[in-house]
Amino acid sequence: MKEHIVVVGGYGHVGQTICKELGEFVPGKVFAAGRNRERAEQFSRATGGMVRPLSLNITETVDPSVLDSVKLVVMCVDQTDPSFVRSCMEKGVHYVDISANHSFLSRVERLHKEASASRATAVLSVGLAPGLTNLLARHAHSQMDQTDAIDISVMLGLGDQHGKAAIEWTIDNLNTEYEVVKGGDRTWVKSFTDGKETFFGAEWGRKKAYRFNFSDQHALPQTLDVPSVSTRLCFDSAAVTGLLAWLRALGAVRLLKWRPIRNAAVQLFGKMRVGTERFAVKIDAWGKKNQQDVFVECLVQGKNEAEVTAKVAAAVAASVTRSSFPHGVYHMEQLFELQDIWPSIHGVVSVETRVNGNRIS
Ligand SMILES: NC(=O)c1ccc[n+]([C@@H]2O[C@H](COP(=O)([O-])OP(=O)(O)OC[C@H]3O[C@@H](n4cnc5c(N)ncnc54)[C@H](OP(=O)(O)O)[C@@H]3O)[C@@H](O)[C@H]2O)c1
Repeated sequence: MKEHIVVVGGYGHVGQTICKELGEFVPGKVFAAGRNRERAEQFSRATGGMVRPLSLNITETVDPSVLDSVKLVVMCVDQTDPSFVRSCMEKGVHYVDISANHSFLSRVERLHKEASASRATAVLSVGLAPGLTNLLARHAHSQMDQTDAIDISVMLGLGDQHGKAAIEWTIDNLNTEYEVVKGGDRTWVKSFTDGKETFFGAEWGRKKAYRFNFSDQHALPQTLDVPSVSTRLCFDSAAVTGLLAWLRALGAVRLLKWRPIRNAAVQLFGKMRVGTERFAVKIDAWGKKNQQDVFVECLVQGKNEAEVTAKVAAAVAASVTRSSFPHGVYHMEQLFELQDIWPSIHGVVSVETRVNGNRIS
């Protein structure tokens, strides 16, 4: 019988909270998987056995029989090769992925037929960004008859704890160029350029955020049919955000191509405690309602982005194991609305929505 849940990266920073949340829901049936058996066992003991340990390296060939008793895989590791995901689809194992890596997620999207044929549901774009950002974009979109543009701005706290993989992903994306959809056309942009001021509510005021290659801006033009979507990033410390934008403009971030410099930057970022634990996500959306121009703003604030990421992922994972969803590969906003996830996060985040400046929730 397929009843187990495997969280790959399950004893990592985000994975631990996902395992604990799911372990409460189905004790003894959740496995924290990774390459280091000892770390997996240590974590299992810390949960009193509620979560069980599993040795698994998804970059090596995985024996598909490992998946025989598995109902759902939650992926907390950035991948480059979709072989393991393909095995999940072929074995009819449901799949939830918290990666923000668009190039990989687009390869998983192409497994839609395999997933449908074996009655598996894969949910991508799960977490905070992507994840909550996708649901907020859908929420803003639902306030309008026609949505012309959505700007997503993410502010992360430098005093917050971020896992190593998440820091590596951020550093590796400081020096990238990528395509976005603007006015219905594809155009190339550079990460950490094209700064734009965004109002993050009374607590933070206006902050300048810069383009960053989060996967939400790639999925949303298709899933919500919006002709312009952008995502920008800033930190609670305006000085650090400004410094990175300056280094980007000078071309200094090219030095990150050298492994020792890149690794030193990852370490430095991991140790940096110059800000708060708080984060904020702002959606600004423009469109029409009853043939009138309309401007919708959604603001989410909270602390501990990894915890919120994990709570969103655990809520999606629990729903996928409990309820019946269409089979195939979907982004979170195609299967979920903000209110579906709200009970899992309402104690840790606040959300406000404004239409033309007037607060509606
Ligand atoms: N959607 C969002 O909002 C959001 C937010 C935060 C993070 N993320 C993403 O979530 C992922 C995890 O982040 P994190 O902060 O939790 O990182 P982390 O603390 O570094 O955890 C990564 C985990 O993956 C395991 N792992 C690495 N390579 C593996 C492999 N080949 N096979 C099996 N397990 C492997 C690691 O254990 P071993 O090294 O011992 O194997 C570790 O337990 C990253 O992809 C990050 O970008 C998404």
